[in-house]
Amino acid sequence: MKDRVLSGMQPSGYLHLGNFAGALKNWVRAQDIYDCFYCIVDWHALTSNYANPAPIADYKRDMLINFIAAGLDPSKCTIFLQSVVKQHAELHLLLSMITPLGWLERVPTYKEKQTEIKDKDLNTYGFLGYPVLQAADILIYRARYVPVGVDQIPHLELTRELARRFEFLYGKGILIEPEALLTESPKVAGLDGRKMSKSYDNAVYLSDTPELIEKKIRTMMTDPARKRRTDKGDPELCPVYALHKIFSSAEEIGRVAAACKTAGIGCIDCKRILINNILKELEPLWNKRHELINNPSMLDDILNEGNKRAAAEAEKTMVDIREAMKLS
Ligand code: TRP
Ligand code: SF4
Repeated sequence: MKDRVLSGMQPSGYLHLGNFAGALKNWVRAQDIYDCFYCIVDWHALTSNYANPAPIADYKRDMLINFIAAGLDPSKCTIFLQSVVKQHAELHLLLSMITPLGWLERVPTYKEKQTEIKDKDLNTYGFLGYPVLQAADILIYRARYVPVGVDQIPHLELTRELARRFEFLYGKGILIEPEALLTESPKVAGLDGRKMSKSYDNAVYLSDTPELIEKKIRTMMTDPARKRRTDKGDPELCPVYALHKIFSSAEEIGRVAAACKTAGIGCIDCKRILINNILKELEPLWNKRHELINNPSMLDDILNEGNKRAAAEAEKTMVDIREAMKLS
């Protein structure tokens, strides 16, 4: 029996190279090793976008298409939509009974996001409970591993604490404490050098046309010290180089770094190499995307099938939980 893995991704924007290189590629690798459940967490997207839910439908669809186009194989893993598997909401409610408020207020992302995101009112019950919903996503599948980035460690720690508290209160060996699967996912630099993110408007999207990608990289920030072609640069200060590290070969990375330091290469040529490598890597994904977009019933079938498998697993755990909490 393979170990169970669960991970989730929030459909709060179109997928970009950061999601692709940072998470999705790891998910594709994991499907051959583990019994993987991959969840499109649309309820989580609502916690911060409740005032404007309309675009979420498009984001979900784009996400499903990209999951499959990037290589997730529905015969190897279970791809499903959170809001269809109502058991997540039931467990979220039941876990909320045993979640001390202090635990939630202490989660760093809670305060951080509230100060960082000023155009939305995140002073809500749903947003405070975000990590409880995430814990429900994970615990309901009795997942052993959760592939996530370091930013998610506090959420996973809370999940483990909730599993322990549940077992302490009702303990029958129903829930297991999951572990983070910290894949060394690269920090993907955005066009302005900050982390690639929809909210910074610095992202290259998987749905961008090749022409648009080329334009975005051509106008991308470089090491500010290289104002003229003859100025020497420091690749470590350049977001273009950060993308080379993800999309170029070891040989090219070494060559570009050395040439940058000696002004042996110009930024235009350096970017040309990167553009070609990104386009080469994304080409099979675009072909697959094209196929899928023209075949919506295949997408529906994949999702329906995944939803069914997930609901069956989730219901098994809920039967035990209802009994432990004297609800059956
Ligand atoms: N909070 C996660 C993120 O922002 C998304 C998420 C929701 C998740 N539920 C999950 C990740 C369960 C892993 C497991 O990336
Ligand atoms: Fe960046 Fe390449 Fe220009 Fe160096 S040569 S500053 S790595 S774009």
